[in-house]
Amino acid sequence: MKAKPFVKWVGGKTQLIEQLEALLPADFDKWENVTYIEPFVGGGAMLFYMLQTHSNIKSAIINDINPDLTTCYKVVRDDPSALVESLKELQNEYYSLQSEESRKRFYLQMRDEFNTKALDPIRNTTLFFFLNRTCFNGLYRVNKAGLFNVPFGRYETPTICDANTIFADSELLKKVVILTGDYQETLSHAEGNTLFYFDPPYRPLNNTSSFNDYTKEAFNDFAQRRLKEFCDKVEQAGYHFMLHYTAYKDDKRYHDFFTTNYQVRKRT
Ligand SMILES: C[S@@+](CC[C@H](N)C(=O)[O-])C[C@H]1O[C@@H](n2cnc3c(N)ncnc32)[C@H](O)[C@@H]1O
Repeated sequence: MKAKPFVKWVGGKTQLIEQLEALLPADFDKWENVTYIEPFVGGGAMLFYMLQTHSNIKSAIINDINPDLTTCYKVVRDDPSALVESLKELQNEYYSLQSEESRKRFYLQMRDEFNTKALDPIRNTTLFFFLNRTCFNGLYRVNKAGLFNVPFGRYETPTICDANTIFADSELLKKVVILTGDYQETLSHAEGNTLFYFDPPYRPLNNTSSFNDYTKEAFNDFAQRRLKEFCDKVEQAGYHFMLHYTAYKDDKRYHDFFTTNYQVRKRT
Protein backbone atom coordinates (compact mmCIF):
# COMPACT_ATOMS: atom_id res chain seq x y z
CA MET A 1 0.00 0.00 0.00
CA LYS A 2 1.68 3.17 -1.18
CA ALA A 3 -0.71 6.00 -0.51
CA LYS A 4 -0.90 7.14 3.11
CA PRO A 5 -1.43 10.35 5.10
CA PHE A 6 0.87 13.11 3.86
CA VAL A 7 0.71 14.93 7.21
CA LYS A 8 1.10 13.84 10.81
CA TRP A 9 -2.26 14.50 12.47
CA VAL A 10 -3.27 14.32 16.11
CA GLY A 11 -5.90 11.60 16.39
CA GLY A 12 -4.65 9.98 13.17
CA LYS A 13 -6.06 6.48 12.80
CA THR A 14 -3.21 4.63 11.07
CA GLN A 15 -2.72 2.35 14.11
CA LEU A 16 -6.40 1.45 14.25
CA ILE A 17 -7.02 0.54 10.63
CA GLU A 18 -7.32 -3.22 11.19
CA GLN A 19 -9.87 -2.70 13.93
CA LEU A 20 -11.81 -0.29 11.75
CA GLU A 21 -11.82 -2.70 8.83
CA ALA A 22 -13.36 -5.34 11.12
CA LEU A 23 -16.12 -2.89 12.02
CA LEU A 24 -17.24 -2.19 8.46
CA PRO A 25 -20.76 -3.44 7.66
CA ALA A 26 -20.42 -7.23 7.21
CA ASP A 27 -21.56 -7.23 3.59
CA PHE A 28 -19.70 -4.06 2.64
CA ASP A 29 -17.74 -5.68 -0.20
CA LYS A 30 -21.00 -6.77 -1.81
CA TRP A 31 -22.29 -3.20 -2.03
CA GLU A 32 -22.02 -1.81 -5.52
CA ASN A 33 -21.01 1.71 -6.58
CA VAL A 34 -20.28 2.87 -3.06
CA THR A 35 -20.05 6.54 -2.10
CA TYR A 36 -17.57 6.95 0.78
CA ILE A 37 -17.85 10.16 2.81
CA GLU A 38 -15.39 11.33 5.44
CA PRO A 39 -16.69 14.59 6.98
CA PHE A 40 -13.78 15.13 9.46
CA VAL A 41 -10.93 13.92 7.27
CA GLY A 42 -7.84 15.22 9.14
CA GLY A 43 -4.82 13.22 7.93
CA GLY A 44 -7.12 10.78 6.10
CA ALA A 45 -5.68 7.45 7.29
CA MET A 46 -9.00 5.69 6.75
CA LEU A 47 -9.58 7.44 3.41
CA PHE A 48 -6.29 6.25 1.90
CA TYR A 49 -6.83 2.76 3.27
CA MET A 50 -10.39 2.48 1.98
CA LEU A 51 -9.58 3.73 -1.50
CA GLN A 52 -6.78 1.21 -1.91
CA THR A 53 -8.62 -1.73 -0.38
CA HIS A 54 -12.24 -1.52 -1.46
CA SER A 55 -12.56 -1.24 -5.21
CA ASN A 56 -16.36 -0.96 -5.01
CA ILE A 57 -15.95 2.66 -3.88
CA LYS A 58 -16.86 4.63 -6.99
CA SER A 59 -16.58 8.08 -5.48
CA ALA A 60 -15.41 9.68 -2.29
CA ILE A 61 -16.16 12.98 -0.62
CA ILE A 62 -13.90 14.40 2.06
CA ASN A 63 -14.32 17.48 4.18
CA ASP A 64 -12.57 19.38 6.93
CA ILE A 65 -13.22 22.73 8.55
CA ASN A 66 -9.53 23.63 8.29
CA PRO A 67 -9.07 25.43 4.94
CA ASP A 68 -5.27 25.19 5.04
CA LEU A 69 -5.56 21.41 5.33
CA THR A 70 -8.11 21.04 2.52
CA THR A 71 -5.94 23.27 0.32
CA CYS A 72 -3.14 20.73 0.91
CA TYR A 73 -5.41 17.95 -0.36
CA LYS A 74 -6.27 19.97 -3.49
CA VAL A 75 -2.63 20.84 -4.22
CA VAL A 76 -1.53 17.22 -3.72
CA ARG A 77 -4.28 16.09 -6.09
CA ASP A 78 -3.92 18.75 -8.76
CA ASP A 79 -0.31 19.93 -8.67
CA PRO A 80 1.97 17.29 -7.13
CA SER A 81 5.07 18.11 -9.23
CA ALA A 82 5.09 21.80 -8.35
CA LEU A 83 4.58 20.91 -4.70
CA VAL A 84 7.45 18.42 -4.69
CA GLU A 85 9.80 20.96 -6.29
CA SER A 86 8.87 23.60 -3.77
CA LEU A 87 9.25 21.20 -0.82
CA LYS A 88 12.66 20.00 -2.04
CA GLU A 89 13.89 23.56 -2.15
CA LEU A 90 12.72 24.29 1.37
CA GLN A 91 14.13 21.00 2.65
CA ASN A 92 17.57 21.81 1.19
CA GLU A 93 17.48 25.22 2.80
CA TYR A 94 16.57 23.74 6.18
CA TYR A 95 19.21 21.00 6.02
CA SER A 96 21.91 23.57 5.25
CA LEU A 97 21.34 25.34 8.56
CA GLN A 98 24.14 24.44 10.94
CA SER A 99 22.82 25.09 14.41
CA GLU A 100 19.65 24.50 16.36
CA GLU A 101 19.41 28.21 16.94
CA SER A 102 19.44 29.01 13.23
CA ARG A 103 16.89 26.25 12.55
CA LYS A 104 14.63 27.66 15.23
CA ARG A 105 14.93 31.18 13.79
CA PHE A 106 14.09 29.85 10.35
CA TYR A 107 11.10 27.89 11.73
CA LEU A 108 9.70 31.03 13.37
CA GLN A 109 10.14 32.98 10.14
CA MET A 110 8.22 30.34 8.19
CA ARG A 111 5.51 30.27 10.85
CA ASP A 112 5.12 34.07 10.59
CA GLU A 113 4.87 33.81 6.83
CA PHE A 114 2.24 31.06 7.08
CA ASN A 115 0.25 33.22 9.51
CA THR A 116 0.03 36.11 7.06
CA LYS A 117 -2.78 34.07 5.44
CA ALA A 118 -2.00 35.71 2.13
CA LEU A 119 -0.11 32.99 0.27
CA ASP A 120 -0.84 31.19 -2.97
CA PRO A 121 -1.94 27.55 -2.61
CA ILE A 122 1.48 26.02 -3.42
CA ARG A 123 3.38 28.21 -0.96
CA ASN A 124 0.69 27.78 1.69
CA THR A 125 0.83 24.01 1.31
CA THR A 126 4.64 23.97 1.27
CA LEU A 127 4.70 25.83 4.58
CA PHE A 128 1.94 23.65 6.00
CA PHE A 129 4.05 20.54 5.29
CA PHE A 130 7.18 22.24 6.58
CA LEU A 131 5.57 23.29 9.87
CA ASN A 132 3.99 19.86 10.27
CA ARG A 133 7.42 18.20 10.06
CA THR A 134 9.44 20.69 12.08
CA CYS A 135 7.05 21.81 14.82
CA PHE A 136 6.73 20.15 18.21
CA ASN A 137 5.25 16.64 17.76
CA GLY A 138 3.52 17.47 14.46
CA LEU A 139 0.75 19.23 16.36
CA TYR A 140 -1.69 21.54 14.69
CA ARG A 141 -2.98 24.12 17.11
CA VAL A 142 -4.24 27.65 16.61
CA ASN A 143 -4.78 30.48 19.08
CA LYS A 144 -8.01 32.41 19.57
CA ALA A 145 -7.13 34.58 16.58
CA GLY A 146 -6.80 31.47 14.42
CA LEU A 147 -3.01 31.74 14.10
CA PHE A 148 -0.81 28.64 14.15
CA ASN A 149 1.16 28.72 17.40
CA VAL A 150 2.94 25.39 17.88
CA PRO A 151 6.57 25.79 19.07
CA PHE A 152 9.70 24.59 17.30
CA GLY A 153 10.33 20.83 17.38
CA ARG A 154 14.16 20.47 17.40
CA TYR A 155 14.39 17.86 14.60
CA GLU A 156 17.64 18.05 12.66
CA THR A 157 16.75 16.31 9.37
CA PRO A 158 13.01 15.63 9.27
CA THR A 159 11.56 14.40 5.97
CA ILE A 160 9.94 17.52 4.59
CA CYS A 161 9.59 16.24 1.04
CA ASP A 162 8.24 12.69 0.66
CA ALA A 163 7.77 12.66 -3.11
CA ASN A 164 6.63 9.01 -3.37
CA THR A 165 3.78 9.53 -0.95
CA ILE A 166 2.71 12.77 -2.62
CA PHE A 167 2.56 11.18 -6.08
CA ALA A 168 0.78 8.05 -4.83
CA ASP A 169 -1.76 10.15 -2.90
CA SER A 170 -2.27 12.40 -5.89
CA GLU A 171 -3.34 9.45 -8.08
CA LEU A 172 -5.78 8.22 -5.50
CA LEU A 173 -7.27 11.65 -4.84
CA LYS A 174 -8.26 12.05 -8.50
CA LYS A 175 -11.68 10.58 -7.77
CA VAL A 176 -12.17 12.50 -4.54
CA VAL A 177 -14.33 15.60 -4.07
CA ILE A 178 -12.69 17.90 -1.52
CA LEU A 179 -14.93 20.19 0.53
CA THR A 180 -14.06 22.83 3.10
CA GLY A 181 -16.45 23.72 5.86
CA ASP A 182 -18.81 22.29 8.40
CA TYR A 183 -19.36 18.52 8.23
CA GLN A 184 -23.11 18.94 7.81
CA GLU A 185 -22.59 20.09 4.22
CA THR A 186 -21.57 16.58 3.23
CA LEU A 187 -25.06 15.06 3.49
CA SER A 188 -26.16 16.50 0.16
CA HIS A 189 -23.38 14.48 -1.51
CA ALA A 190 -24.69 11.12 -0.32
CA GLU A 191 -26.18 8.93 -3.02
CA GLY A 192 -27.17 5.26 -3.15
CA ASN A 193 -24.95 2.93 -1.16
CA THR A 194 -23.22 5.45 1.07
CA LEU A 195 -20.92 4.95 4.04
CA PHE A 196 -20.07 7.90 6.29
CA TYR A 197 -17.02 7.55 8.50
CA PHE A 198 -17.00 10.14 11.29
CA ASP A 199 -13.90 10.83 13.35
CA PRO A 200 -14.74 14.11 15.10
CA PRO A 201 -12.40 15.94 17.49
CA TYR A 202 -12.24 14.54 21.00
CA ARG A 203 -14.74 15.91 23.39
CA PRO A 204 -12.71 18.22 25.67
CA LEU A 205 -12.43 17.19 29.30
CA ASN A 206 -14.31 20.34 30.18
CA ASN A 207 -15.98 22.97 28.08
CA THR A 208 -13.21 25.52 28.43
CA SER A 209 -10.30 23.16 27.85
CA SER A 210 -8.46 24.06 24.70
CA PHE A 211 -5.85 21.29 24.65
CA ASN A 212 -5.86 19.31 21.43
CA ASP A 213 -7.99 21.85 19.61
CA TYR A 214 -7.72 21.81 15.84
CA THR A 215 -9.85 24.88 15.52
CA LYS A 216 -10.66 27.97 17.53
CA GLU A 217 -13.85 26.38 18.86
CA ALA A 218 -13.64 23.32 21.08
CA PHE A 219 -15.86 20.37 20.20
CA ASN A 220 -17.98 20.85 23.31
CA ASP A 221 -21.24 19.32 24.56
CA PHE A 222 -23.30 21.43 22.20
CA ALA A 223 -21.22 20.23 19.26
CA GLN A 224 -21.61 16.60 20.38
CA ARG A 225 -25.39 16.96 20.50
CA ARG A 226 -25.46 18.57 17.08
CA LEU A 227 -23.41 15.69 15.69
CA LYS A 228 -25.79 13.16 17.24
CA GLU A 229 -28.73 14.87 15.53
CA PHE A 230 -26.85 14.82 12.24
CA CYS A 231 -26.18 11.08 12.61
CA ASP A 232 -29.93 10.57 13.12
CA LYS A 233 -30.56 12.36 9.84
CA VAL A 234 -28.00 10.21 8.03
CA GLU A 235 -29.65 7.10 9.38
CA GLN A 236 -33.16 8.27 8.53
CA ALA A 237 -32.05 8.94 4.97
CA GLY A 238 -31.06 5.26 4.75
CA TYR A 239 -27.28 5.71 4.76
CA HIS A 240 -24.75 3.87 6.89
CA PHE A 241 -22.23 5.36 9.22
CA MET A 242 -19.34 4.54 11.51
CA LEU A 243 -18.53 6.89 14.33
CA HIS A 244 -15.82 7.36 16.93
CA TYR A 245 -17.23 8.80 20.06
CA THR A 246 -16.07 9.54 23.55
CA ALA A 247 -18.15 8.36 26.44
CA TYR A 248 -17.12 8.86 30.02
CA LYS A 249 -17.98 6.35 32.71
CA ASP A 250 -18.92 9.13 35.09
CA ASP A 251 -21.14 10.92 32.64
CA LYS A 252 -24.51 9.19 32.39
CA ARG A 253 -25.89 11.74 29.94
CA TYR A 254 -23.64 10.41 27.25
CA HIS A 255 -24.21 6.72 27.73
CA ASP A 256 -25.65 5.24 24.57
CA PHE A 257 -25.84 8.71 23.18
CA PHE A 258 -25.31 7.43 19.70
CA THR A 259 -27.65 4.69 18.70
CA THR A 260 -26.42 3.18 15.53
CA ASN A 261 -25.28 -0.26 14.60
CA TYR A 262 -21.75 0.81 13.75
CA GLN A 263 -20.16 2.33 16.79
CA VAL A 264 -16.42 2.47 17.16
CA ARG A 265 -15.48 2.79 20.78
CA LYS A 266 -12.29 4.73 21.22
CA ARG A 267 -12.07 5.17 24.98
CA THR A 268 -14.50 4.95 27.82
C1 LIG B 1 -9.84 13.55 15.04
S1 LIG B 1 -9.48 14.58 13.65
C2 LIG B 1 -9.62 13.46 12.32
C3 LIG B 1 -8.44 12.53 12.25
C4 LIG B 1 -8.41 11.62 11.02
N1 LIG B 1 -9.37 10.55 11.13
C5 LIG B 1 -7.02 11.06 10.77
O1 LIG B 1 -6.83 9.85 10.59
O2 LIG B 1 -6.07 11.86 10.75
C6 LIG B 1 -10.85 15.66 13.54
C7 LIG B 1 -10.87 16.67 12.39
O3 LIG B 1 -12.13 17.37 12.40
C8 LIG B 1 -11.95 18.71 11.93
N2 LIG B 1 -13.13 19.49 12.37
C9 LIG B 1 -13.36 20.08 13.57
N3 LIG B 1 -14.60 20.64 13.59
C10 LIG B 1 -15.16 20.38 12.38
C11 LIG B 1 -16.43 20.68 11.79
N4 LIG B 1 -17.38 21.35 12.45
N5 LIG B 1 -16.66 20.26 10.52
C12 LIG B 1 -15.72 19.58 9.82
N6 LIG B 1 -14.49 19.26 10.34
C13 LIG B 1 -14.22 19.66 11.59
C14 LIG B 1 -10.60 19.10 12.51
O4 LIG B 1 -10.01 20.15 11.74
C15 LIG B 1 -9.81 17.76 12.46
O5 LIG B 1 -9.02 17.68 11.29
